[in-house]
Amino acid sequence: MRNKITVVGAGNVGANCALRIAEKDLADVVLVDVVEGVPQGKGLDLLESGPVQGYDVTITGSNDYAPTANSDIVIITAGFPRKPGMSRDDLLMANYEIVRSATEESVKFSPNSILILVTNPLDAMAQAALWVSKFNKERVVGMAGVLDSARFRTFIAQELGVSVDNVTAVVLGGHGDTMVPVVRLSNVSGIPLTELMDQPTIDRIVDRTRNGGAEIVKYLKTGSAYYAPSAAAVEMAESILRDKKKVLPCAAYLEGEYGINGLFVGVPCKLGARGIEKIYELKLTAEEQAGLQKSAAAVQELVDVLKSKR
Ligand code: LAC
Repeated sequence: MRNKITVVGAGNVGANCALRIAEKDLADVVLVDVVEGVPQGKGLDLLESGPVQGYDVTITGSNDYAPTANSDIVIITAGFPRKPGMSRDDLLMANYEIVRSATEESVKFSPNSILILVTNPLDAMAQAALWVSKFNKERVVGMAGVLDSARFRTFIAQELGVSVDNVTAVVLGGHGDTMVPVVRLSNVSGIPLTELMDQPTIDRIVDRTRNGGAEIVKYLKTGSAYYAPSAAAVEMAESILRDKKKVLPCAAYLEGEYGINGLFVGVPCKLGARGIEKIYELKLTAEEQAGLQKSAAAVQELVDVLKSKR
């Protein structure tokens, strides 16, 4: 049986997800977008790369959800970037509408799928998808921690002139400037970061990680990052489809873990065939726990707006 992944949103993140899925020979892909022609065109272009790149998955584009039927995984990337004059709440409600309809349509055709949310504001959109899908919490997961920790790892490796392969970095919390890079648990081949760098350097890297998304937006001006976000989403999809049981930082619905209840927040999760198979609850220092609470409060604020307006 071939696996099937639906990618909702044929923008830069969605199209690169499709490309990475194909290049890993992970699954057939259906690219869905409301814009006529774009998912079809990008889907066909990706399909035609197969003979050269050596993949033979099927990639199709569609404006409706019928071709997505029986997908194993649905990756939701569709959404607006923030436009000038738009408040955070305006963006929240606009993307809520997109994620609501994408979730409704996807689960109608793929009731047994696992949803991976990528649309921002990430943690709140994951919450919206959980409400709308009525799936159990193991089957709705948000992509942020893999991206944020990849950025943290990149900056650590760059600073030390070592391979990123040897760098482990832990990031907790919501996907925003309140995220909590946990320096104490980050290391290079087991060597604690604190033995390799002085505090000002660590502080600078932590700060750059927190603002990693904004740094890219500043360069691109008209959009946000997509290569690293798509890589992160597809690593999660691969761990689920191939039941690899990777332990990755993901936005998961917490019910008491870390003292947080009824909210999506980034925590280490085991991703396997059943989705989020385990949430790891780390013992945090008082400072780390306070950082996580602050980050959760920022997510809660957005979720409260959603609850009041939806
Ligand atoms: C980022 C945005 C896209 O972190 O969430 O790049």
